[in-house]
Order: sequence, then C-alpha cells, then structure tokens
Amino acid sequence: MSASPERPRVVVFASGRGSNFLALVDAVRSGRLPARVAALFSDRPGCAAVAAARDLGIPAVALRPRDFADRAGFDRALFDRLAAFDPDLLVLAGFLRILDPAVIEPWAGRIVNIHPSLLPLYPGLDTHRRAIAAGDARHGASVHFVGAELDGGPVIAQASTAITADDTPETLAARLLTEEHRLLPAVVDLIARGRIVLDDATVQLDGRPVAQPLQLRADGLEPG
Ligand code: GRF
Repeated sequence: MSASPERPRVVVFASGRGSNFLALVDAVRSGRLPARVAALFSDRPGCAAVAAARDLGIPAVALRPRDFADRAGFDRALFDRLAAFDPDLLVLAGFLRILDPAVIEPWAGRIVNIHPSLLPLYPGLDTHRRAIAAGDARHGASVHFVGAELDGGPVIAQASTAITADDTPETLAARLLTEEHRLLPAVVDLIARGRIVLDDATVQLDGRPVAQPLQLRADGLEPG
C-alpha cells in the first residue's frame, strides 16, 4: 500500500467475539495506528463483533449465509458490499468462513488474516489443543497475507509464548490473545505506512524480502 496522505481505510471481517477488531479500533482511536476502521463485515448478524461495531458507530455489514444459494454466492454478495467503503486493506480477524478464491484474488496483497498458531504449524481449528497435545515448547499466532489455501499465504509476523506444563487450551488461548491484540495492530501499522508489501508472493519490509516472519517482542516487531 503506498503511503498516501489519507489514512488507509481498513475493513475488518469477524464472526464472533471481535476482540482483535476492538484492538485495532483502540489502536486507531488512541492515535497509535495511522488508519481508519471503515467497517466491520460479518457472516453472523448476532455476533458480539457486530454489536460492538454498532456501539462504536462503525458501520457493520452482516449477511446470513443461509440467505444465499451457495457459498460462492454469499462470498460474492459480501465482497460486493465492500465497494461502498472503498477499503485499502481487508483484515480477517476471527472470520470463521473459508472464502472463495475468486473473491480473494482481486485483493491479493491487500488482505491479511490472523491465525492462532505458528504457521505453517496447525492451519485450521483447535490450534491450542493441538499444540499442547504435540508437546510443543512454544505456541503462537501469525498474521499472513491471504492466499487461496486455508491459513496459507506468506507469513508477515508472529507472536509466541512458552507452553507451560499446567497449560490448558483455555489458558494458552487467553495468554496468546493478549499477544494477538499487540501483533495485529503492529502489522497493520507497517502495512498502513507502506513498509510491508507483498511482492510476487514474497513479503517485503522497506523494500527487502523478509526471510523469516517478524517476531513480536516487548518493544514491537523485530526481524525473525
Ligand atoms: C483469534 O484467536 C484469532 O487468531 C482467530 O480467531 C480468534 C478471534 O478472536 N482467527 P476475536 O473474535 O478477535 O476475539
């Protein structure tokens, strides 16, 4: 995204609680993130994220998949509604649907997802339980550019935490979520400033390829 004098317009997609959406809104409203959250899009009109957006005066567009003949029709209808908000960047944050590659394709390099694992480990669901069951020493979250594959696409940055002997999927998820709330605004910040771009399937930071995902440390994102 070129660093335009206008703050980039971000549309967030969420299906549930919306805490990552709220973390982005908080970063924008406190002046830490030079962007605008233009709208919240959802596939669940009754979810907490939609209610939170409306409470905050942020437009919410929520369509019900069952009102459409098929998955592709729903995805098309939802993405058709984006034009009204003229977004520069789409952020999937707890959006629990697999999107049709046909709607993603025009957004290549302008759509990111936050996933609760150290990708490429554990795409899909139930990541916290799977990391504990595998005996992993660390678990984490990744923000990646969205490609055609589920939780695929080049990883931009990760946050991680040690798995302790008494961790349950719930304690691990809760600890990681606080890291997600720092990770996502930090990545969107780099994209909003035009410092992170996707160039031919390679993540570039300040014009140089990022060989390893950036890592979230106490002071922010650092080289991996
Ligand atoms: C987060 O763990 C995110 O990584 C995953 O779904 C969860 C969404 O949480 N994709 P919230 O709705 O942002 O609170």
